[in-house]
Amino acid sequence: MAKYIINQTSITGGEISISGSKNSALPIIAGSILCTSPVKISNIPNLSDIFNMYEILNYLGCEINTKSDGTAIIYMNSPKNMLVPYELAHKFRASFLVMGALLSRFKKAEIALPGGCPIGNRPIDLHLKGFSAMGAEITQEHGIIEAKCDRLKGAKIYLDFPSVGATENLIIAASCAEGKTIIENAAAEPEISDLANFLNACGADIKNGGTSTVTINGTKELKGCEHNIIPDRIEAGTFMTAAAMCKIPLTIKNVIPKHLKPITAKFREMGIEIEEHKNYIKILRPGNISAADVKTLPFPGFPTDMQAQITSLLSITHGTSMVVETIFENRFLHIPELNRMGANIKIDGRCAIIEGTNRLTGTKVTATDLRAGAALTLAGLIADGTTEISDIEHIERGYENFVDKLNQIGADVSITND
Ligand code: UD1
Repeated sequence: MAKYIINQTSITGGEISISGSKNSALPIIAGSILCTSPVKISNIPNLSDIFNMYEILNYLGCEINTKSDGTAIIYMNSPKNMLVPYELAHKFRASFLVMGALLSRFKKAEIALPGGCPIGNRPIDLHLKGFSAMGAEITQEHGIIEAKCDRLKGAKIYLDFPSVGATENLIIAASCAEGKTIIENAAAEPEISDLANFLNACGADIKNGGTSTVTINGTKELKGCEHNIIPDRIEAGTFMTAAAMCKIPLTIKNVIPKHLKPITAKFREMGIEIEEHKNYIKILRPGNISAADVKTLPFPGFPTDMQAQITSLLSITHGTSMVVETIFENRFLHIPELNRMGANIKIDGRCAIIEGTNRLTGTKVTATDLRAGAALTLAGLIADGTTEISDIEHIERGYENFVDKLNQIGADVSITND
């Protein structure tokens, strides 16, 4: 199994460029199923989750032509299959995002339940309640969700929680439903604005995508368009954290600074100076960093996908910090591993109390999930000696060319298959 080997070295800084957002690309690729002519999507990151989504679309009958520059032309003419089997669905949670498109365009979909994952139970009840409100008949047997309808009808949907996936699935479904859908308490993450912009370019009529109340006037069919995926704000936040931990100046190119606001605000509170420009930011060489309290919340709150990385930073920040995780019930799996590297962090339910320490020491640790793995990689950059991270396939699911980019700023990271 592949591992990262990270040797401590003096990291210099410099500049890196951020890839397209995985979490934007996944629903947009799923949404392409709605279009009756080809769509051309660019700035798609080269990641296993994206290949897994292509595999599902191929299986369903889509033609997909990909290029090494991150562009894909996707065209769904007539479907070959309407059932996404467990072997394809269980690989990643976003597989369920094809449900809305299949149901809306072909009036039927069957998808194997993706199952739980290390960070939490991750139910799909909010997606299903929304489809039911739009007139779909939903059954579950033998681990497969089956949904069918004559034609989805617009509905008023109030989400109990602003779920990102449910908001995306329901926006996609409502785009070709009959009549008006209003989604209240919708998620407002930038990836939702990107999805709405994509669907509107295909001919949908979506208003206020990326706010808590989204209105969708259903249209009969969507046509293809050209769309460029937004930059990955979590990748950018991870490199911001790398700069803060290594105390290096870093220019982070190809970002949308307003998408980073919840992260930049917290970093500034901690005393880290950040210059914001039109499409890049500069972290000035960080000096003394202060302890801070962080609570994860739906956008525009602090992102849960940055919780593990900021916990790594706080573990070497003088003073006592507190991190509260409100989105996922089991997202502290990086903490026992950070403690093995010398961090002093106690967990009490959804709260982590961090006593900053001067140094971490390299050892063998395991990446239990994507962001936990990123947090351990960041810790490895400044830990004395050598850090060996196993199960790195979790990390590689979400960071394009991670090792190359880290080495570009002066780190000493390699991949071994021993
Ligand atoms: C997306 C992101 C993920 C991020 C998360 C929260 C993608 C591919 N993944 O995941 O990286 O961490 O948003 O920002 O974009 N919930 C329910 N019922 C549902 C749906 C969700 O109870 O039907 C709960 C979940 O268990 C979780 C919370 O809502 O506790 C947030 O989940 P959600 O926003 O749906 O996350 P994802 O879309 O799965």
